Amino acid sequence: MEKEPDIQLQVIEAHYQQKRRYQELIERYKTGPQSLHFVSKHSQLTRFLQFLKVGTIEDKKILDLGCGLGDFFKFLKEQGITTQYTGYDIVSHFVGHCLKTYPGEHFEERDILFSKPKDNFDYIFASGIFAHANQISFEEIVTLAFDMCELAFAFNIFETTQPDFFHITKEDVLFFCNRLNPCKVVLVEDYLPGDYTVFLYK
Ligand SMILES: C[S@@+](CC[C@H](N)C(=O)[O-])C[C@H]1O[C@@H](n2cnc3c(N)ncnc32)[C@H](O)[C@@H]1O
Repeated sequence: MEKEPDIQLQVIEAHYQQKRRYQELIERYKTGPQSLHFVSKHSQLTRFLQFLKVGTIEDKKILDLGCGLGDFFKFLKEQGITTQYTGYDIVSHFVGHCLKTYPGEHFEERDILFSKPKDNFDYIFASGIFAHANQISFEEIVTLAFDMCELAFAFNIFETTQPDFFHITKEDVLFFCNRLNPCKVVLVEDYLPGDYTVFLYK
């Protein structure tokens, strides 16, 4: 992917910062939910439930961008929803865990920022992946993921003032999303304090 040198640098910085943070958490918490920064299983589940509002995903080709420990895959199974699932993560430890826990399923170590897949997906979901992003990596990922989906890209943002987390206002998120000319932008909120979900439709 051809980028301006300083954009490229910020994207690389975000990539390694994310990897470093999750690596530290893995060393401390192994594969417990804390390794993903989740306050609770409840908040994770509540976020997944919002994703189901995007449309009918049964039998659709979906990408779980930043799949972590494969919990969204597990959630879909538990809900009885069959999909053509793919999970990508940049942390090899998480991908290894997913492949061991769900043999035969498609989990892959990949960062779309550096290696965009050839095939598109109907829906792309990204839960929690912007926690340690920076402005450039956020914009690049949203642009790429929206480009890679046929129906919609769904992601969530947690508004926090904690240091070391990515800060962006809701207005800026929506402004940026609208610049991509989606057919429709839907904002879902009021399900968890400080959290909201965005659906960008083709
Ligand atoms: C807070 S965790 C959430 C994991 C999972 N989505 C869930 O809800 O259980 C964020 C995950 O995004 C991954 N991640 C961050 N940036 C990424 C990128 N550019 N591509 C793929 N995965 C990424 C991290 O490695 C981490 O596993």
